[in-house]
Amino acid sequence: MNTKNIKRLTAMAAAFLPATTLRLTPFSTLRFLSSFPLSNPLFRPLRRPLLEGFPTNARRRCFCTAVPQSPGSGEGKKVENNYENRFGSIVGEFRRKLKIAEVKGGADQGLSRVGQSLSIMGWVRTLRSQSSVTFIEINDGSCLSNLQCVMNPDAEGYDQVESGSVLTGASISVQGTIEASQGTKQKVELKVDKIIVVGKCDSSYPVQKKRVSREFLRTKAHLRPRTNTFGAVARVRNALAYATHKFFQESGFFWVASPIITASDCEGAGEQFCVTTLIPSSHETTDTSIDAIPKTKGGLVDWSQDFFGKPAFLTVSGQLNGETYATALSDIYTFGPTFRAENSNTSRHLAEFWMIEPELAFADLNDDMACATAYLQYVVKYVLDNCKEDMEFFDTWIEKGIIHRLSDVVEKEFLQLGYTDAIELLLKANKKFEFPVKWGLDLQSEHERYITEEAFGGRPVIIRDYPKEIKAFYMRENDDGKTVAAMDMLVPRIGELIGGSQREERLEVLEARLDALKLDKESYWWYLDLRRYGSVPHAGFGLGFERLVQFATGIDNIRDVIPFPRSPGSADF
Ligand code: 4AD
Ligand code: MG
Repeated sequence: MNTKNIKRLTAMAAAFLPATTLRLTPFSTLRFLSSFPLSNPLFRPLRRPLLEGFPTNARRRCFCTAVPQSPGSGEGKKVENNYENRFGSIVGEFRRKLKIAEVKGGADQGLSRVGQSLSIMGWVRTLRSQSSVTFIEINDGSCLSNLQCVMNPDAEGYDQVESGSVLTGASISVQGTIEASQGTKQKVELKVDKIIVVGKCDSSYPVQKKRVSREFLRTKAHLRPRTNTFGAVARVRNALAYATHKFFQESGFFWVASPIITASDCEGAGEQFCVTTLIPSSHETTDTSIDAIPKTKGGLVDWSQDFFGKPAFLTVSGQLNGETYATALSDIYTFGPTFRAENSNTSRHLAEFWMIEPELAFADLNDDMACATAYLQYVVKYVLDNCKEDMEFFDTWIEKGIIHRLSDVVEKEFLQLGYTDAIELLLKANKKFEFPVKWGLDLQSEHERYITEEAFGGRPVIIRDYPKEIKAFYMRENDDGKTVAAMDMLVPRIGELIGGSQREERLEVLEARLDALKLDKESYWWYLDLRRYGSVPHAGFGLGFERLVQFATGIDNIRDVIPFPRSPGSADF
């Protein structure tokens, strides 16, 4: 950090400080804070508390810490290095900020904090003035609800309210005391002693209080997380990611990072993005002629001159790499971005999406289906238990009855059904499908949704044992010679949420399958090795994380459940 920045921060910190004798030097380490319990050793102040005279069990107000240039470490360690003495200073302790969720969360909705002095930082949602009182709704993203701040003209900084600096969208810091609210919308509010405008907001701010369409907000992807809907989606998405790791870690799986750049096409569908330096790749070189791409004598692209010496792509799935670790660590999962260049402009497809891919060794298709079911029930329950406010918001505004629907998912048993039976069911359905039903058909969204939404009344259904012609090369062939041990989990509104299979662990069968599909065995040499050296029955699945977020929030378009969607013709932000 340069001296100018340090000075700026120092000045900023000084603005947050109550009157104190604390001296801030350009080398002081600053950290803005709200309040901290003195009983918690994590929050032990490094210096004399800034405000004195509080009862010892009260939360003390402290808005920044300053670490002197050569503080004692508290463990009697001396700074030995001369340079450190002269030039350095010790990095300050990390202290978590107090958030609105902590103030208002909990069963009593903040009532136990009445009388506490604290400070909150966030963005103004609304401001309204009533004779001598001003109400400011502030949101810091930690939860859906805002903190109502009540302010009289005698509050420090009130002139900024009068001069119109506190508009919707502005970032502010407010200090005051928590009081029981007289309003019916909240149990507590903040009686403001001091307000600081951290960043003004221009009147052109596009995310005002009025409701705007989600299509419009897609064009404002940098500001949409400040709305109720996108804030709630971001928090639920985060909870699902956390619960995913928690489920697998608690079930004995190891997380494995699969590569993003790969030379193999896992799904064999050829829907990959090429990663190359043969085509000039910076924006300045977009006017380079096509002749600049190196060619072989025969006029083909000369891949030997490319960065990797051969064609390379963004991965469509981490599965093949995942299998290598499953056949060493037994149970693993990957959780990372995957890319598909399929030109599907639908509400369920993205060009860049996140996939969770567990792989289980010494396991068959039944184990795979059981794992997928337990996983889905676990993460859905986690969200229902831990994101109550956001889920109630979705239930009211996005999909009526979603809490009930998800509770059913947690409580009811999942059904499984053979592909052949599913076809029979569809043939008997009193419904005209766009894609005619016959054995061998790759089920389309309309079929999948009919099965889960209508035939089974909204229950998740797993279809298993698909025809081998419509599935990938790595799936284990069933004894009938016609089908493979594949499974797709279908859920209402989405259709396919999970796709998985038992893998072909028999070397000769796998080689024969690669030959039949005219895939180059050479390039799968390491994958075949897994079958050569201690092969085991194993199985796994892939879950599209954004489809899971759609399922858990009721949001109908997949572009609204990922921060920055990438889809055909669109890679903004
Ligand atoms: O069914 P898929 O293609 O299966 C695989 O990739 C396997 N290798 C997984 C495995 O067995 N490890 O994709 C898995 C899931 C789908 O069920 C779907 O939820 C999601 O990934 N998915 C997409 N999500 C968003 N946009 C797309 N374009 C998607 N394509 C697949
Ligand atoms: Mg699939």
